[in-house]
Amino acid sequence: MIKSALQIARENYKPKLPGALKGSIKIVEGEKTESIADQDDIKKMFPNTYGMPILSFAPGDKKDYPAINVGVILSGGQAPGGHNVIAGLFDGLKALNSNSKLFGFLGGPSGLVDNEYMELTSEIIDHYRNTGGFDIIGSGRTKLESKEQYDKGLENCNSLDIKALVIVGGDDSNTNACVLAEYYKEINAGVQVIGCPKTIDGDLKNNMIETSFGFDTACKVYSELIGNIQRDANSAKKYWHFIKLMGRSASHIGLECALQTQPNITIISEEVEEKKQTLEQIVNSIADVIAQRSANNENFGTVLIPEGLIEFIPEMKKLIAELNDLMVEKENEFICLESKLEKREFITESLSKDSSTVYDSLPNDIADQLIMDRDPHGNVQVSKIETEKLLIEMVESQLKKMRKEGKYKGKFAAQNHFFGYEGRCAAPSNFDADYTYSLGYTAAILIGEGKTGYMSSVRNTSASANEWIAGGVPVTMMMNMERRHGKMKPVIQKALVKLNGAPFKKYEQNREDWAVSTKYIYPGPIQYFGPSEVCDSPTKTLLLEKNE
Ligand code: FBP
Repeated sequence: MIKSALQIARENYKPKLPGALKGSIKIVEGEKTESIADQDDIKKMFPNTYGMPILSFAPGDKKDYPAINVGVILSGGQAPGGHNVIAGLFDGLKALNSNSKLFGFLGGPSGLVDNEYMELTSEIIDHYRNTGGFDIIGSGRTKLESKEQYDKGLENCNSLDIKALVIVGGDDSNTNACVLAEYYKEINAGVQVIGCPKTIDGDLKNNMIETSFGFDTACKVYSELIGNIQRDANSAKKYWHFIKLMGRSASHIGLECALQTQPNITIISEEVEEKKQTLEQIVNSIADVIAQRSANNENFGTVLIPEGLIEFIPEMKKLIAELNDLMVEKENEFICLESKLEKREFITESLSKDSSTVYDSLPNDIADQLIMDRDPHGNVQVSKIETEKLLIEMVESQLKKMRKEGKYKGKFAAQNHFFGYEGRCAAPSNFDADYTYSLGYTAAILIGEGKTGYMSSVRNTSASANEWIAGGVPVTMMMNMERRHGKMKPVIQKALVKLNGAPFKKYEQNREDWAVSTKYIYPGPIQYFGPSEVCDSPTKTLLLEKNE
């Protein structure tokens, strides 16, 4: 590996640990827990792991822990800090017993099933401390859902004498980790399972999990880029920048970046859904802001668009559902049509009246994309729709209309951007480096104490690291029943942006001002060395939620 100067310097950074993790520890059991909803159903499905108490740590007497072999899996999209979870887990295990071993399953959950693994030694781990990426063992999106996979995984654990697994993932991966924990406990397999909350999307959070790791760094990277673009816009004064931000479903990233950079417009999908806004209303409101700024001679600005927007616009959601059904029902007729125009006309005639009006209002390339790009199940690939380009085209035609009506006299030139992959493997901020190391270290202690079906948890994260509260949260506590692929399933509830929450309220109070005046903030790049207020502060979301 060829290392950059920053990477070499960061290798020597010692992540901060919560005070309670520093000496000998005893585990403190809190109250028994209940799932957030559907208690009876979930209790029935998790007879061995339901209702366990919340755990925290307190200073205790020195204790002997037996040596143990542990496996770790990185699941799903990359998020800054994954390598430090592994480093913290490794150091924590070695602190309990220096003969313990850590194995990494390669390429995500499939590594467990296919027995693809490597032993992680300090020679290997030391090169990855405080770095971004998941490349130490790789990640993947295979879901661990079937009994065959669990049994194969157990066979592979047994062959390596692995007695515990740590699964680092988002809401789905942690749900599956809990099902695995329950199954292994039920059959007395002797393999514990501990989860770890990861995703840049920030939607794995609740009363006990304040934030998922990676959100802090990813938002800071995007905010740097947005700030730079805003400064460019404010210098040249000739472009409107439409910036789509990753986050498959929730708009936490867009909201946090808005709080960090104060752009002119930020669309929050959860608000669009709540207010049942139409695409036309969204377009018109953007065009109105452009016209107002233009009246002040400011023909430039920034618009933040959440990646998941389309599925939150009720009429688009209905259109997509109809298209999905239609393409299955009339597939044979559809594939016989040759030109794009014929295909579009066929779709328009087959849809309900409302959906066909929406479909016809879309720019041709987006209308084509909706019926051409399908996933292996034949469904529209919503995440591939270039919403930023869709909005530019529709805003442009609305501005033309307004010009004819004498309501707009400005110039409109737009640039489109999509920020996602740029932030997922960034070198973790000090916050994420400390938080992930602490999560990994906590997982080691939970394992040492024989726990299973828990998620590693570090709370009070808006305080200094020494004050952080480490422990374990039973995964069943975060679950409710939801319909997935036509069946009711126990799942960890995804956290969407709360419209009555402090971060959204803060944005709401300021948005009219930010829209028309130019109040940009330029946060600059993440700093790793220097004054604490520059290097260590958590996200605005965490700080605002703390005071709720
Ligand atoms: P996770 O939920 O697995 O952490 O992934 C989140 C995410 O980064 C989303 O923001 C994005 O929509 C998606 O992954 C992209 O997935 P892929 O890496 O497969 O292109």
